[in-house]
Amino acid sequence: MRLTALVTALLVAGATLVAAPVQAAAPAPPTAGPALAATPPMGFNNWNAFGCEVSETLIKETADVLVSSGLRDLGYEYVNIDDCWSLRERGPDGRLVPDPDKFPGGIDGVADYVHAKGLKLGIYGDAGTRTCAGYPGSLGHEEIDARTWAGWGVDYLKYDNCNNQSDGSQEDYIRRYTAMRDALARTGRPIVYSICEWGTSQPWTWAEGVGQLWRTTGDISDDWSSVRSIIRQNAPLAPYAGPGHWNDPDMLEIGNGGMTATEYRTHMSMWAMMAAPLIIGTDLRAASAETLEILGNREIIAVDQDRLGVQGAVVSDENGLMVLDKPLAGGDRAIALYNSTDTLATVGVAAADTGLRRAGAYRLRDLWTGRTLQARSTISAAVPAHGTVVYRVSPLRGPGDVPPSVVAGAALGTVVPADGGTLTTAVTNRGAGDVRDVKVTVRTPEGWTATATGPSGSARLRTDAALETAWRIGVPATAAAGRHPIEITAAYRWGRRSAGTSSEIVAVVVTAPGDGRRHLSTVAPVSTVNATGPVEADQSNGGPLEDDGNLITIGGRVYQRGLGTTTGSEISYYLGGRCSRLVTDVGVDDEAAAGAPATFTVHADARTAATSGPMTSGQAPATLTADLTGADWLRLTAESGAAAVHADWASPVLTCGDVPDDSPVLPVSRTLFSFETGTDGFTIANPGDGGTVARSPLFHTHGTSGLKVSTPVAGNWFGRPLDEPLDLTGTSMLRFDVRAGEVGTVGEIAIQVGEDMSWCQGGRWGWIGPHSSRTVTERFDQIACPLGVTLDLADVRAVWVFLNTGGDVHIDDVRAE
Ligand code: GLA
Repeated sequence: MRLTALVTALLVAGATLVAAPVQAAAPAPPTAGPALAATPPMGFNNWNAFGCEVSETLIKETADVLVSSGLRDLGYEYVNIDDCWSLRERGPDGRLVPDPDKFPGGIDGVADYVHAKGLKLGIYGDAGTRTCAGYPGSLGHEEIDARTWAGWGVDYLKYDNCNNQSDGSQEDYIRRYTAMRDALARTGRPIVYSICEWGTSQPWTWAEGVGQLWRTTGDISDDWSSVRSIIRQNAPLAPYAGPGHWNDPDMLEIGNGGMTATEYRTHMSMWAMMAAPLIIGTDLRAASAETLEILGNREIIAVDQDRLGVQGAVVSDENGLMVLDKPLAGGDRAIALYNSTDTLATVGVAAADTGLRRAGAYRLRDLWTGRTLQARSTISAAVPAHGTVVYRVSPLRGPGDVPPSVVAGAALGTVVPADGGTLTTAVTNRGAGDVRDVKVTVRTPEGWTATATGPSGSARLRTDAALETAWRIGVPATAAAGRHPIEITAAYRWGRRSAGTSSEIVAVVVTAPGDGRRHLSTVAPVSTVNATGPVEADQSNGGPLEDDGNLITIGGRVYQRGLGTTTGSEISYYLGGRCSRLVTDVGVDDEAAAGAPATFTVHADARTAATSGPMTSGQAPATLTADLTGADWLRLTAESGAAAVHADWASPVLTCGDVPDDSPVLPVSRTLFSFETGTDGFTIANPGDGGTVARSPLFHTHGTSGLKVSTPVAGNWFGRPLDEPLDLTGTSMLRFDVRAGEVGTVGEIAIQVGEDMSWCQGGRWGWIGPHSSRTVTERFDQIACPLGVTLDLADVRAVWVFLNTGGDVHIDDVRAE
């Protein structure tokens, strides 16, 4: 049985965001030789693609590919080993010992190999008692570890923050990270020092002079919402970066398969614009041509590695569209037009609002397509959803032979089968000089139609003039819900030449929900507007980031399901006349301070179907029942005058089609343990560690009580072997609700299967802040079993939840869905 959690004791007491006054770190001891990381470090690290599966073979083979693919010569220099390279205990001499199975030739052997290829070697350590994966940490062992690494020929250290014994103060962070800086300096070997404390103590305010780079966020993952959220956090930190001191938004996921090529190009573009370290995190031995092309774009790399070393500044950031401006040596500027929204958008900036020198026109070199265009005074492009256009811009004397920048933008409302939708196209000439004989065409999917309701051509467009056209989009009644591309092409002449430009907009076909009663939080809205960050599903609105709320709580009552908004919010659903009723609780979330009241209204098309009247904070929830018969659209609004109030739709259930009132609410959830009468047999997996488990009425999301757990050690598994094997076939995930006490916690899930009780464990864990609550979810396809064991859902023998506790933590309703 494997009882170590990957996250054992991540973050101890109070290691949360520190807003302490800025502390000056002691100056670095003087070093000789060239400055370290004069430009952002580039290289490879095994963590994102391989986790703990690191080995000498992997590192050597990666070094080989860095050379053979040409990536080394493009600047990718460091080959970095992440966590799990050592044995679980130090040697008798107190030194870290490389795992001989993984590194039979030792780390020095790998270093020699890598150095012989003209590359450098990186290693991983931790400013705590153990690394994040439970290997020996360097806290209190700084001198000997720095000497060991330097002796092996290591050139780069990533220094992590798990099990840090910290009181959470910024002074403590500075102390722990400066101790290793000084130890590295005393070795006399130049070693790039990469601080990895996830932005916890705001290292950008103190780490210049301590490390050459510092992580600014939590761990990246291979999905779009992760990249989008990291950009949002890292972009405003531009003033803190410069040569030898870089913001690190974490390593690249390009090539790992969880994002589209457009999204990976945005990842690469924005990291370059933010002068971020470019540390490849994919299996280079198996990388596709497309992956190598993205990672190997030399003009984008040149933006990242520009010797001025300035992180691109945010010029504008509105409605999910961001413009970054980065000065480059020699006077050019890199301008990025980033569209984080889910649809095509025209993103632009006036040259006068950037650092560009005044000029009659500008040359725009598109660093992804390689095309060069000229613009008079506005730098703009139609950027696909999740895409980024990066232009290298320089002043241009006369437009001469350079083709004009003509932008084919479009906007499209929701598209409904049979009813269709409305498309607006806008073709804008941003070039110096006229374009003539402009003709717009729209190509729809098979069986659809596009009919212009006004002129779709123009004899002449002057600089900055636009041709706008509205189109009726006809959609067959049989069109499937989902995303369908529509192509917009503008053909035109400039000078004597013919040219054209096209953009793709994705039509989202919506259909009404199927028959049944279902939690509204599992139905995709067509549109949402919210005052603070996104509307959250099954949690309160929290703050500006995604997934940053608590379990919805109104007047002390905690809900598993619902929608968390901040007033000024509006959520729309397409019903197609197929639904009859919405029943929901509403109220102001307990996390909100007392303030202005909020009013909740359910709209069925133009009709008010139910309204709450003003609700104040602390007040018990009200129940609304709305008749939706015949309505095409359902809209939920929460208003509170000028104030922003956390307004919750708690447990809203939508009924569609002809179904009995008592039919089960979808998705069906099966409670396994709800702690109504006792502990349900829950125990602590390692009883030797001590701790308690007791039924408690203080927190419950099901029934009237939950379970209070505590353990004196940093983390433990709570749960039980079962008397009878459990059959969970037909369900896809396990979940439980948790509320942390004085200090935060993390939650994770494991199950044991089969006669030999094989231990299968999830890899997803999330930090739960002090006094905050959430649902921990583990999908079965995210649970890993030991080699050779398959996850037999029909034969579950034990269920465990991991909690990293300091003080009491409450849990409830362990369930399968
Ligand atoms: C932390 C770091 C990651 C990785 C893992 C290794 O989560 O932030 O980048 O190094 O630890 O366990």
